[in-house]
Amino acid sequence: MEECRVLGIDTSCDDTSASVVIDGERILSNVVSSQSDIHKKYGGIVPELASRRHIEMIWPVVDEALNNAGITLNDIDVIAVCYGPGLIGSLLIGCGFAKAVGYTKKIPLVAVNHLEGHIFSVFLQDKPEFPFLSLIVSGGHTSLYIVDGFGQYMELGKTRDDAAGEAYDKVAKLLGLGYPGGPAIDKLAGQGNPKAFDFPRAYVPESFDFSFSGLKTAVRNTVVNSQNAITPIAQQSTFICDIAASFQAAVVDVLVRKVEWAIVKKGIKRVALSGGVSANGELRRRMKKMAEEREIELYLPSIQFCTDNAAMIAVAGYHHFKAGNIAGMDLNPKAYLPL
Ligand code: KG4
Ligand code: ZN
Repeated sequence: MEECRVLGIDTSCDDTSASVVIDGERILSNVVSSQSDIHKKYGGIVPELASRRHIEMIWPVVDEALNNAGITLNDIDVIAVCYGPGLIGSLLIGCGFAKAVGYTKKIPLVAVNHLEGHIFSVFLQDKPEFPFLSLIVSGGHTSLYIVDGFGQYMELGKTRDDAAGEAYDKVAKLLGLGYPGGPAIDKLAGQGNPKAFDFPRAYVPESFDFSFSGLKTAVRNTVVNSQNAITPIAQQSTFICDIAASFQAAVVDVLVRKVEWAIVKKGIKRVALSGGVSANGELRRRMKKMAEEREIELYLPSIQFCTDNAAMIAVAGYHHFKAGNIAGMDLNPKAYLPL
């Protein structure tokens, strides 16, 4: 059979991304245009600014993805676009673009849920057998699923308040580390003592749900109280590293423990991680250790495919296309979209 070349597009949040993937596994290009330069001075994403930047960037990013793949739009067999969940103004740009190009070039369109994209990001390198446990840890989501096959997802639990990445970003803002906060905390935590502060771990007993808002408040209280004390400058940087390390230890402890519990309760011996926080060094290290101890197959996306990217949308889109799930011109993005 002929190769199937999918153009993936993701504009769900603050990155404009386009990618060309063959047969849902062979990546030809993946371009991500970050907007962190425009949002960092606000300490978080400003939705209106995000959609405006998407408008400016969508064509250049798609062009670059096609050029890097050495092909043109005429060679594309399917356009896969993320239609939610996400920021509605941002999603509108990707969906409007995909519909317009699909219509004028007569290319079939498929609609992909962003979370489904994250789940399938591991397929860019590996082919886990079904069923597997999938932990999505990103800026907008912290959810645990059993994946029984393509399109077959059972949610075991999710965060009851903040997502893990959101907690990273808020703690980073509090420490004056800018946006996005995850990578900055990841780095500083390596120089701090994870036992310096005993921050709370919300294990939410008898449930696969998560909760990170109490942890965030505990960190804030510790930082605010310390600001009342007169601390020499030299000690301040140690303090920030210790806060970062202790906060990160609390997040990672909960994530690893919950996955372990799911392994035991559900008897599933394959685990895949995805989403921006799965790029975290300590989380990857601890998950690998746990997987070794419990003889689990662990699937981690390479760092570039942890955070938002269009390659993962192209992978999931390919499977939708194979299943005959073609979207019409009435496709509308959705800010809230369950899997
Ligand atoms: O998956 P993603 O790019 O976007 C969403 O779908 O939300 O995830 C972004 C999140 C941000 O909160 C960012 O701070 C976090 O992932 N993140 C990290 C790391 N890299 C990105 N968190 C912890 N450690 C990292 N190395
Ligand atoms: Zn994402």
